[in-house]
Parts: sequence; structure tokens; C-alpha cells
Amino acid sequence: RKGSKKRNRKRTTDFMRRLPQAIIIGVKKCGTRALLEYLRLHPKVVAPGPEIHFFDRSYNKGLEWYRKQMPKSLPEQVTVEKSPSYFITPGVPQRIKNMSSSVKLLLAVRDPVQRAISDHAQSLSNGKIRTLEERVMKETNKREVDPESYIVKIGMYARHYRQWLVHFPKSQILLVSGEELVTDPAKVMADVQKFLNLEEVINEDYFFFNETKGFPCLKRDPNEAVPKCLDGSKGRPHPNVDPVVLETLRRYYKPLNEEFYKLVGTDFHWS
Ligand code: A3P
Repeated sequence: RKGSKKRNRKRTTDFMRRLPQAIIIGVKKCGTRALLEYLRLHPKVVAPGPEIHFFDRSYNKGLEWYRKQMPKSLPEQVTVEKSPSYFITPGVPQRIKNMSSSVKLLLAVRDPVQRAISDHAQSLSNGKIRTLEERVMKETNKREVDPESYIVKIGMYARHYRQWLVHFPKSQILLVSGEELVTDPAKVMADVQKFLNLEEVINEDYFFFNETKGFPCLKRDPNEAVPKCLDGSKGRPHPNVDPVVLETLRRYYKPLNEEFYKLVGTDFHWS
């Protein structure tokens, strides 16, 4: 009995909050929530529900504060955090490297035009009233994209990605196609589990494509009768966009996308 008490005590101290070994660093509106929720289906993965924004907004609180935001885990489990603005915030790659040079980074990317529209749809649902045109085109010339526009800038993936390459090798950053998170979640999860050295548990049996929502919904276990969809803030209907604005955005991003494909060695075939 004494022995089992000892074992239990060891087990209790093993069950503790740990700094993340993997971080979903972005990109905003590219499926970061879906990626995290898919990952959380895995028994060896734990993650805080909310975005922690430690490396961009709360860095002065210190690593100990950050650790305390994590759920408790066992030594064999992987702690994952996601805060999509890490990707575009200067200084964050260095800060993450200071925490751990071996941390694994996950980066969801999506057609930057669709990303911008999704970002805009989010602003509309938050009560903002400016049109997409007002947000992405130059004030002086409505036919030209404003490269200083916040929602335009986020989609300049190559530029941001280069900042990460200063501190991390490409092999430590897994790119996840935001489009594939919707069309083939099981394939994405096969890559993600391999990248995180996790046994391949999450497969097609964990997903059910909900035709009404137009997105995969999740099963906590393959026998679950009612799959759970992400909440209404994920997979919002998109507003109609002036075709001229759409075409101008497409043309603007085309060379930037090509640059990104070359840099990462993958052609995402975006519009
Ligand atoms: P939309 O709401 O514009 O369709 P993020 O979590 O980074 O904010 O990304 C939100 C996007 O995730 C959604 O954008 C949606 O397209 C995408 N997504 C991917 N898989 C999804 C899923 N299973 N359920 C809902 N949205 C999903």
C-alpha cells in the first residue's frame, strides 16, 4: 500500500503545467481555431481554450505567468498554444526562440484574398461599418491596393515568414493549408501528427462534413453520434465584394504568392 501511495504521489507531481512544445503562430483567419480543435482530439495533446497572446501582448508578465496559463499535462503529452498574431508581430520569433529553440511551430495559410474577406466579415460582425474597398484600397486612388492596409499586410506571407527564418529552420515550421483543413482534415492531421511525433490517432473517423455548415465537424471519438461543429464565428458567410476590388486584390497578391510558394517549396494554387 505504501508503494502505491508513493507511485500516486509521483503521478500527481508529473501532472503539472508545462510551457508549450508546439505553437500555432498564425495566420489570422486561416483556420487556426480548426487546427487547434482538430489537434485537441488527440489524447496526447493539451491546449488552453483561449488565445494567450503572451509573446505579443503579455511578454512582460514573464514565462512563469505563461506556464500558468497552460492546462496540466503528463510528461508524455504535448502542450500546444495558438495566438495568430504572433506570425506578424516583430520580435516574437526571437522571444519564442529564447523560450525554446526546439519548439515546433505550426502555420496555417490560406488564399490571402479569402483571408482578407474573412477578416473583413469578422469586422462587420463586430459592428464595424467600413466597406472592404475602404479598408484595402488607397484613399487617393481607389484602383490601387494600399500596401499599408492592416488586412492587406497580414496576407504578405513571404515577408513575415522571412522574419521567422532568421531564428528557426524551415523544418521546424509546418505549413498547413487552410483550404485543406476544410476539404481534407484527415490528410492535414496525418502530417501534423507526424510533425509532432504523435502516434497517428486522428483520422477520417473523427470528422464529419456537415453540408449545412459547409465545414467538417468533429467527433470526440469515432463512435460519437453527434459531431460538434466549431461555433458560429468560424465559417461565417462572406459579404459580397465588388468584383473590381476582388480582381485588384488578386492581381496585387499574385507576385507575392509566387514569392511565398518559392520560399516554402509548395504551390498552394491560390487565386
Ligand atoms: P470564415 O469564417 O471566413 O469561413 P481562424 O480560426 O484562424 O479565425 O480561421 C477561421 C476560418 O477557419 C474560417 O473562416 C473557416 O473558413 C476556416 N475553417 C477551417 N476549418 C473549419 C471548420 N472545421 N469549421 C469552421 N471553420 C473552419
